[in-house]
Amino acid sequence: MTVQEELQATIRELVQPGKGVLAADESNPTIAKRFTAVGVESTEAMRQQYRSIIFSAPGLNEHISGVILFEETLEQKNLDGIPMPELLASQGIVPGIKVDKGKGPLANAPDEEIIFGLDGLEARLSAARELGARFAKWRCVFHISDTLPSELAIGANAETLARYAAICQSLGIVPIVEPEVLIDGAHSIERSAEVGEQVIRGVFRALDLHRVNLETMILKPSMITPGKDSPKASPEQVAAMTIRTYRRCVPAAVPGIFFLSGGQTPEEATLNLNAMNQHADLPWTMSFSYGRALQEPAQHAWKGELANRGAAHKAMTKRARLNGAAALGSYSS
Ligand code: 13P
Repeated sequence: MTVQEELQATIRELVQPGKGVLAADESNPTIAKRFTAVGVESTEAMRQQYRSIIFSAPGLNEHISGVILFEETLEQKNLDGIPMPELLASQGIVPGIKVDKGKGPLANAPDEEIIFGLDGLEARLSAARELGARFAKWRCVFHISDTLPSELAIGANAETLARYAAICQSLGIVPIVEPEVLIDGAHSIERSAEVGEQVIRGVFRALDLHRVNLETMILKPSMITPGKDSPKASPEQVAAMTIRTYRRCVPAAVPGIFFLSGGQTPEEATLNLNAMNQHADLPWTMSFSYGRALQEPAQHAWKGELANRGAAHKAMTKRARLNGAAALGSYSS
């Protein structure tokens, strides 16, 4: 297979009706926060136990086409000694890898951030590929206020996303391009739409400059919602604003827009996705690439006890199934 054929085959597997991606790529500090919320200490053994459990939820592959892994998990075996990527691939689920190295201050852009990890990226991607990763993820974050994000932050982050995506594709790895506009703040849904459009326009300008192939990437943006300190918008409003915004700036050549959940509750994330898929004639497949909104109930059911495996499976399968339905617009609560 040529690199191009490989990319196309991975896209066909990832972008399927009624399926989405499970983002289980929390870095160690992030998963520690999630574990603390359910009273569990984050050790390598506990992370192994937890991820072994959720990746073995019966029927997961009916609704999940790919799982994004953190580097530790890519190299880990499950509780039965099977390498995690193999455990997923044997169920027809494509393993992926988070390759960004986290965020830090962006010089000359007060209160804004840049993502690290381009140095040595090619070697890390090649090593991940050897371990079974066929797609990758890189997340940028944008803070929103009356004046932010700045043109500088949009330009610099878009440039890193584009360089990452181009390197991925040169190695036959499908890039998930994730520009996250944070939900923090008291902004209106209109401000969120304005910023969402600026950011996505910036990202596609950079992708174009770096000659990224649009047919073999997935966009993972935020939904257009009001800030978390503002009154909530209805799923119909969120859907209408999100679709209006992305129709203006996401080329139809992009096969999939797979949203992040970004602090929405599991129920909200499902309802919002479902409302989007009520709209006819969308140029892209709109699905999910949720972390918290898929895993929170499973973490609460598990509570660090292997004996709760059955309950954790049930919780995991339930959210996967409901979001699978929302990806088809056929969810009913
Ligand atoms: P959330 O759905 O929890 O926002 O996580 C998705 C993700 O991968 C963030 O990088």
